[in-house]
Amino acid sequence: MLQSISVERTTTPKPKPQANELGFGKYFTDHMFIMEYEPDPGWHRPRIVPYQPISLDPSAKTFHYGQTVFEGLKAYRTAEQKIQIFRPRMNIRRLNLSNERLCIPPLHEKTVLEALMQLLRIDRDWIPFEPGTSLYIRPFVIATEPALGVAPSRHYRFIIILSPVGAYYSEGVHPISIHVESRYVRAVAGGVGNAKTGGNYAASLKSQEEASRRGCAQVLWLDGTYRKYVEEVGSMNVFFRIEDTVVTPALTGSFLEGVIRDSVIRILDHWNIAVQERPISIDEVVRAHRAGSLKEIFGTGTAAVISPVGELHWQGEKLTVGDGTAGALSAKLYDTLTGIQTGRLPDPFEWMEEVGD
Ligand code: COI
Repeated sequence: MLQSISVERTTTPKPKPQANELGFGKYFTDHMFIMEYEPDPGWHRPRIVPYQPISLDPSAKTFHYGQTVFEGLKAYRTAEQKIQIFRPRMNIRRLNLSNERLCIPPLHEKTVLEALMQLLRIDRDWIPFEPGTSLYIRPFVIATEPALGVAPSRHYRFIIILSPVGAYYSEGVHPISIHVESRYVRAVAGGVGNAKTGGNYAASLKSQEEASRRGCAQVLWLDGTYRKYVEEVGSMNVFFRIEDTVVTPALTGSFLEGVIRDSVIRILDHWNIAVQERPISIDEVVRAHRAGSLKEIFGTGTAAVISPVGELHWQGEKLTVGDGTAGALSAKLYDTLTGIQTGRLPDPFEWMEEVGD
């Protein structure tokens, strides 16, 4: 049942940052959404309140056993001042898939969408409109039961916070260098790799640090069983253009089914460009590079949208992808997706949901 959401507005609005200083996830809007779960009555007390710190018992399970999930999606302001969200229902569905894997009770999808819409209406002035900017939406659930036994929590909190953002990488849409990771793995099939849960990101930090010391912005992850098949790049799905075919790793359960991944596959289909979802090994990528048929690599994700890869660092060698600049297909996909998101281009797929007044 759709529950009614109470609203308490801030009396001390914060100054808004300039578009050129946004970066990613540094500023937060004036309000947040919050609701709690206990077995009886279930999810309850949905409310929008001024953005504020939360207080938790130090024994809350989320701190000890990582029972937590999150999502990331974006809202945009069009030239006509319309506010629209990119494919929110897909993120909300995925939030519940993550909940299911982490033994967190499901959220009522319509309540989450309604919460999101109301929060966006209240903080609409925070949605930037300059090229490359958007409002990043971060819904998350934490296990709050104060108890140290390893068992699913009986209490949870669901929160949505909003952050006006610019480009995810300081490089912007310029190509990034990638370190192919052969020592650490991020996740294995059967684990929680396809759930959006904090532990997957914690598991990636060490490798990310080492890659960054080598001058690479991200890590290309290989599968945890054979250390052979490509899985994803940093926190993004990955695509390879080999001659005129685009290949992306088939979903195996060890990495996230990205909303932008799905959108790119549908756009390529629409353009009659062949896309293959199949296992692709790092050896195949290197062979294609040596044969001159590896034309482009790009990552896809909500935060970065499309992120071209200019260079792969693999076993002490630096492989330049294409001519090292953003490939034509990556650039066209970036332009098309951001065009649809910001209302600059038509939306033939009906992906955008308008927030309304
Ligand atoms: C995304 O791009 O979808 C992400 O979730 C990135 C985020 C972890 C910063």
